[in-house]
Amino acid sequence: MRFRLALVGFGRVAQSLTKTLIEKRAQLKRQFHFDYEVVAVSDTIKGAVSDPRGLRLQKLLSLAQKNGSIKDYGKGTSGLSAIETIARTEANVLVETTWTNLENGEPGLSHIRKALNKGVHVVTTNKGPIALAYHELASLARRKGCQLRFEGTVLSGTPAISLAKEALAGSTVRSIRGILNGTTNFVLDEMAAGRTYTQALKTAQELGYAEADPITDMEGWDSAAKITILANAVMGGRIRLADVRRQGITRITSEDMSDAQAKRRRIKLVAKAYREKDRIRTQVMPERLEESDLLSHVSGVLNAMILSTDVQPEVAIVGPGAGGDSAGYALLSDLLALNRILNGEES
Ligand SMILES: NC(=O)c1ccc[n+]([C@@H]2O[C@H](COP(=O)([O-])OP(=O)(O)OC[C@H]3O[C@@H](n4cnc5c(N)ncnc54)[C@H](OP(=O)(O)O)[C@@H]3O)[C@@H](O)[C@H]2O)c1
Repeated sequence: MRFRLALVGFGRVAQSLTKTLIEKRAQLKRQFHFDYEVVAVSDTIKGAVSDPRGLRLQKLLSLAQKNGSIKDYGKGTSGLSAIETIARTEANVLVETTWTNLENGEPGLSHIRKALNKGVHVVTTNKGPIALAYHELASLARRKGCQLRFEGTVLSGTPAISLAKEALAGSTVRSIRGILNGTTNFVLDEMAAGRTYTQALKTAQELGYAEADPITDMEGWDSAAKITILANAVMGGRIRLADVRRQGITRITSEDMSDAQAKRRRIKLVAKAYREKDRIRTQVMPERLEESDLLSHVSGVLNAMILSTDVQPEVAIVGPGAGGDSAGYALLSDLLALNRILNGEES
């Protein structure tokens, strides 16, 4: 299959994917027989353009980077909304990278539903729709014979979903523990080095790790969304985001830090999913970890996930959990997996 991609959302992640697709075109074709065109791009402020013959990617990137807009692209059809782009163009894969909304999943949820209903495969880094509606979307994808892939929603480009679902296929995941949010991990490290919560958060914001509105990260919502995705997609749970027992790091004081250090412990925001009788429980809580715990050594903005399975007691992965390039790579890895599946190399 020749991939005809529609990029909905053309921010950091989609632009990074575009750059990689340009740079690696020859290699991807040679190594994986992966052949593609981007037939549409649609972004609220930057504009929208589509052309069934394929868009000139370098031109799109230059326009977006120089003008913050692709409206001067010139050729093809311009001005289609995201929904119109999905409905009217000949794309066979939607690359959905609009903003994450953990309240109702929009606008990404409608984009993904629209694409799957039309028989269009979906790859996304957008946590909202997957955290809030995984089972609905996965069953819609199955009914329509489509693939829905979302590697970048957890641990960004560090393979978490495919590690659990594909590399460890055939094993049963009994529990998952992880540091799933780099911003809170960075702030806790700074606090362990003697800074107050406010100072640490300010540094994280100056370095571009924390959003101007840091609540989603600091109150544990981002980690809760990710553990919900893992519990549902990897462990077969039926967890709602609201079910996650959740406490963030805003109430941790410098005294808590010194007390933990005196006991040779490190405070980390740990996300967990585990089986209790026939139910799956999820939580995000600050924990005082012993030095022997691998998670206690995950520092700065790194993320980590430890899977406990019936055949292997512990499998761990550590790596970047954010960044446009990392998430852009997650999309590429999903596209290559899709390429393998559609070419019959695996089902
Ligand atoms: N960056 C990371 O480190 C990272 C890592 C993992 C996952 N993610 C997730 O990946 C997604 C993309 O992240 P990003 O960093 O690329 O964000 P970003 O730079 O803010 O890009 C998102 C883009 O989506 C556009 N958009 C929003 N609503 C839209 C709509 N209705 N139709 C069309 N376009 C729309 C925005 O347009 P305007 O700005 O023009 O309104 C923006 O250009 C997010 O869901 C994020 O949570 C990001």
